[in-house]
Amino acid sequence: MSVTTPILRVGLAGLGTVGASVWRRLLSQRDLLRQRTGTEIYVEQVAVRRPERAREVGVPENLVTSDFGQLIANPALDVIIELIGGTTDAYALIEQALRSGKHVITANKALLAAHGAELFKVAHENQRHLLFEASVAGGIPIIRALREGLVGNRIVSIHGIINGTCNYILTRMNEAGLEFKEALAEAKREGYAEADDSLDVDGHDAAHKAAVLAALAYGFWVPPGRLYTEGLRAVDKQDIVYARKLGYGLKLLAIIKTDADGAVEVRVHPTLIPQSHVLASVSGVFNAVLVRGDVVGDTLYYGRGAGGDPTASAILSDLGQIASHFPQEQRARNVGHEALHSRLKTMDEIVSRYYLRLLVKDQPGVLADVARILATRQIGISSVIQPEAHVGETTPLVLMLHDASESQFQAAVQEIAQIGAIKAPPVHLRVEDFE
Ligand code: HSE
Repeated sequence: MSVTTPILRVGLAGLGTVGASVWRRLLSQRDLLRQRTGTEIYVEQVAVRRPERAREVGVPENLVTSDFGQLIANPALDVIIELIGGTTDAYALIEQALRSGKHVITANKALLAAHGAELFKVAHENQRHLLFEASVAGGIPIIRALREGLVGNRIVSIHGIINGTCNYILTRMNEAGLEFKEALAEAKREGYAEADDSLDVDGHDAAHKAAVLAALAYGFWVPPGRLYTEGLRAVDKQDIVYARKLGYGLKLLAIIKTDADGAVEVRVHPTLIPQSHVLASVSGVFNAVLVRGDVVGDTLYYGRGAGGDPTASAILSDLGQIASHFPQEQRARNVGHEALHSRLKTMDEIVSRYYLRLLVKDQPGVLADVARILATRQIGISSVIQPEAHVGETTPLVLMLHDASESQFQAAVQEIAQIGAIKAPPVHLRVEDFE
């Protein structure tokens, strides 16, 4: 008796950098995927806004359409891979594909962060897969690690360097002494930053990815307006230098964690971390995610977070999951509808250590005034740097502070800013010690 190999038919929407890599890699890895999954994977149709792009990539003309609706209308397709980006057309495409009985694979973290709750509900109602390995940290299989590898763990915390462009910029500011603008220009020349660089440098891309990770860890979607997001534009090179003297490195970190009461915090901001910590050594465009589970302890995932082939690898991983069970259906799991903890802390409630840099006039009593204001709010000082100065001149005064709530710290900073000898707005950074 001969057993025929099942065929999984794929519609590909979008042929940008990632779409082109997916097309090429589905050809180069076809035999491997068949051997490993027992299913033949064929791209049956490709939808692209500019058909000339399909020619550039080498997609045969008979597969190409410029009408995304044709993918939905094509009854032969089992899976649609959405790589068109944005949140309008992509939303419609995914929703209609799921409703018409097709599985969907997407890399679109902005869409998931904004509409994940609705889309996963549609997927679940229709018992179709909506898979998204490529949406966070490119080629690193972090989604599968959380959903499968760590399924038996409660997630205590996730700390992620999940925007390669920002990590590249901070690496160049630290290692080559570049200013933020110079480092950004270099990142653009190297082709790392998104076309709209605000997505990267203002922290939005990392925030979208943090929302996806938080939904997996805690079972609810953080309302987009409630995810504290601070990017790199205000980062001053001198703070990187002082932090280094104090034994810290600066990273744009996504922080997702619960406390003993089960309240959740999700935030993205430049963060000082000990230079001795493994995340401090993640440089350039690389991503890394540190996940602490209550059973396993700390686990670390590292790799390329962007680019055509790493992201295509994540798409192949999702296809492989569907293909391994095809044509039998594996139960499609919902995402973000099984709230384990759903009380989201406000930013005021979070507790952190802080770095504080002041520009002060060198005169008697300034340090005492600053220390008094901090002490009134129970905020301790763990170290101080003040370069040698002459009376009457201005000098930086850099303080590392012990744990404080954000509200207490902000109140103290406002009061400190009123001291007559403070000559510029105070600069602060949050510090993470991974305890
Ligand atoms: N622009 C992103 C980054 C990759 O630099 O990490 C896509 O999410």
